[in-house]
Amino acid sequence: MATSAPTAVAEAVTVAVTAAGKNQLFLGSFVDSAKLDELRYLHDAAVAVDAAGTIIAIEQPCDEQKARLTVLPRLGWAADAVEVHVAKPGQFFFPGFIDTHLHASQYPNVGIFGKSTLLDWLNTYTFPLEASLADPSKARQVYSRVIRKTLSHGTTCAAYYATVDVASTNLLADLCVAAGQRALVGRVCMDQLSPAYYRDESPETALAATRASIAHISAIDPELALVRPVLTPRFAPSCSAPLMRGLGALAAEMPHLPIQTHISENTNEIALVRELFPPTSTGAPDDSYAAVYDAFGLLTDRTILAHGVHLSEAEADLIAARRAKVSHCPCSNSAITSGAARVRWLLDKHISCGLGTDMSGGYSPSVLEAARLAALVSRHVAMGGDEKAKLSVEEVLFLATRGGADVVGLADVVGAFAVGMHWDAQLVGLGDVNADGEVEGDQDEDNNVDVFGWETWPERVAKWVYNGDDRNTKRVWVKGRLVHERK
Ligand code: GUN
Ligand code: FE
Repeated sequence: MATSAPTAVAEAVTVAVTAAGKNQLFLGSFVDSAKLDELRYLHDAAVAVDAAGTIIAIEQPCDEQKARLTVLPRLGWAADAVEVHVAKPGQFFFPGFIDTHLHASQYPNVGIFGKSTLLDWLNTYTFPLEASLADPSKARQVYSRVIRKTLSHGTTCAAYYATVDVASTNLLADLCVAAGQRALVGRVCMDQLSPAYYRDESPETALAATRASIAHISAIDPELALVRPVLTPRFAPSCSAPLMRGLGALAAEMPHLPIQTHISENTNEIALVRELFPPTSTGAPDDSYAAVYDAFGLLTDRTILAHGVHLSEAEADLIAARRAKVSHCPCSNSAITSGAARVRWLLDKHISCGLGTDMSGGYSPSVLEAARLAALVSRHVAMGGDEKAKLSVEEVLFLATRGGADVVGLADVVGAFAVGMHWDAQLVGLGDVNADGEVEGDQDEDNNVDVFGWETWPERVAKWVYNGDDRNTKRVWVKGRLVHERK
């Protein structure tokens, strides 16, 4: 408990108990990111969450008795109307993970990529599968399972690509609302270079289909409380200039909408973009990939750029100037041999970064795995000569939570524990050992993290990052609602 902050952090609030849900009180240890390279440890703390799922008080130190005597009366909460959750020894609450880039439609293909690289992988494995999800029953099966699986790994918010098909894209949004997962849901725009069986017929039909999907998602969640539509040009090679121009215009017309796409993932892809979009055709000042998106009005502070493995200095400076964000996808970048993204270099340029599983370019649905791989890939970058490229446990957990929240435009809403933010959280269980070395808590359960009892809290968290998995994810909440419980 070495890094426990002993100061009391009581926050004054006034609340009305709403009939919509139950007020909740969470008690125990809470860990979140104070800043990029620092975790905050709040032990013996209480977090009060109102019926709408908003954190309205954080008190420390505070046990259940003190909470009942002081916190509940102050909040005006009747004791018997509050649901109390007490973390067991060895357990801690952690913000839910944010997966800033994944393809819900590709989930059945995880692990199936052979020795392919991006462009042949798309044609061999990806387009046939995505096209097949126009079958509504198949889409329902795949999307239900990807939501359940990612929730079980602690992903409370996901930036999803669906497919070209409007009906099944809309179904993905419906299923997210039903399961309670926070999500960005994008209908994939692509009107060129893919097989005829899987592409938008024209820029006009692509834009109409995009509007139809935006209308549906906005209708099922009018306040965008949980699910938001996201403009999704697949990547520059898949989109004609008129489609890109149209999407840029749509982005300007709907300034609340985020945008997601891929950039500079693979060297052959970059060469293709140069060939397809010469500056003479786009009006861009140079032939870089970032300049192409910028020329079409798609490089904005709402833009999530996946990969960014081979960006030039000038491109990174342009991305920083536009305040566009980067989703780092170390699993995918390794699996389909795209390269090692230089995350430290991006962070040093003040580019906001988060983590993406990029299923199924990446083979794992777990953001914890993405964090572990971000740490490892950064060591490969370091072995290339840049010692300071290494990312710490604290840094990869920041990317998985607060970094990701900023990338998806929710920095004030999720990613940490603070009054006013939503309770998007996971209960992590690592087990515990008492002073006599006897096993307590969950240690005896099937679990890949062995705690001996002498580890400091930062050491326990490091063991979770390097050896943990969904067996350690005991419960998951989104906006106060319990959305996963490990049986
Ligand atoms: N570039 C264009 N489409 C894709 C995709 O589905 N996955 C990845 N990793 N890169 C892409
Ligand atoms: Fe991707």
